[in-house]
Amino acid sequence: MSTSDPSESSSSLASSAVGGGGEGLRVAVLYNLKENAPSLNGSAPKDALAELDSMTNVEDYCAAIRALGHSVVAFEGNAELPQRLAEHPVDLCFNTCEGFRGDSREAQVPALLEMMGVPYTASRVMALAITLDKAMTKRVLHYYGLPTPAFQEFFAADQPLDPRLRARLAAGATLFVKPNREGTGIGIHSDARLRDEASLRAKVAYLLGAYNESVLVEEYIEGRDVTCGLVGNLRLDGTPDEDLHLFPISEVDYSVYPAGTEPFYSYKLKVDLADSYRNLCPAPLPEAVAAEVRRLTVETFRACGCRDVARVDFRLDVNNNLQPMILEINALPGITSISDLTLCAEAEGWTHAQLVQAVFQAAVRRLRQRGRLTVRSRLLPAAQSA
Ligand SMILES: Nc1ncnc2c1ncn2[C@@H]1O[C@H](COP(=O)(O)OP(=O)(O)OP(=O)(O)O)[C@@H](O)[C@H]1O
Ligand SMILES: [Mg+2]
Repeated sequence: MSTSDPSESSSSLASSAVGGGGEGLRVAVLYNLKENAPSLNGSAPKDALAELDSMTNVEDYCAAIRALGHSVVAFEGNAELPQRLAEHPVDLCFNTCEGFRGDSREAQVPALLEMMGVPYTASRVMALAITLDKAMTKRVLHYYGLPTPAFQEFFAADQPLDPRLRARLAAGATLFVKPNREGTGIGIHSDARLRDEASLRAKVAYLLGAYNESVLVEEYIEGRDVTCGLVGNLRLDGTPDEDLHLFPISEVDYSVYPAGTEPFYSYKLKVDLADSYRNLCPAPLPEAVAAEVRRLTVETFRACGCRDVARVDFRLDVNNNLQPMILEINALPGITSISDLTLCAEAEGWTHAQLVQAVFQAAVRRLRQRGRLTVRSRLLPAAQSA
């Protein structure tokens, strides 16, 4: 496993360009474009499609993979995908599909690919379904004893409030409310932090109606926002493979926003004020805290069964010695030219193309190690253990 060393990362990218076999692979980049999303009903919130991609980003992914010597096509990850892949067989799909709808929307394209026996980059069906669901992820983290804020999942606004959360409110603490299965700050606005049960229930009722999914209520963790990304894999025995690379930890710099801006990384900060965004990378942290963030990043990746790439978001609890509290793992993190993970990679001298290539190569290496990537891999049974 490596941590941030620019010289080491650049040379490892160059030396493993085509994944060992020497031949160029036939690759399909799979995407979900905002412009192809099924039209939302008129009352849908304006942030609902924020995770979807643009053609410019797709062209970036294609160019980066082509530069490694592979032939690349690009397809929308929709119901026509099986037909497209039958007409244009490929050896490997580079998956960036966030999915348009459904409670496991990120897992849908991988499920189709599993059915067709086509290998693909990044996490597999189960990990994508679990990690899209923040409450389910937190249950997994609990099982492994990994630190995450106390929580309750709401399916109706009048559910009894969990006694632990009720006790927090009674003690003067605040709670945080967000949709259970979104990213990019979708549904996280300045009123996400609440101090009393009545306003909490009103907010839960609004989110249940607006996003048509369960709502997550958590204890509010006061502290700095940090994120830690990685590319590469664990071995089948759970130990880090030599290609596992952790990027420097990044911290949201709130000092750039006007006084009165919400002290959390909301949709407004992520999207509307994206041009003002500044991060501190590497984050100026005591080494023991940074080491714990890195350890918990790998542990979360392991616990959730992720593959090839991920980014784990934390808050450092000021009321508990900067204990890193895991908010979520992004198993299909944004890798556009301005995504958080890209900024982390750039902070140690990588280019955006190198990041895309590293994700691709992590998958190639993993699949080859497990005997799941051959030029005729589409004729093999589904990749059961890759
Ligand atoms: N329990 C909490 N306590 C304090 N702040 C929180 C809590 N949960 C979320 N936040 C704030 O909201 C931000 C976004 O939360 P989270 O990472 O869960 O949302 P997201 O929309 O899935 O993010 P991403 O863009 O990474 O997909 C966090 O970075 C943090 O600032
Ligand atoms: Mg997040």
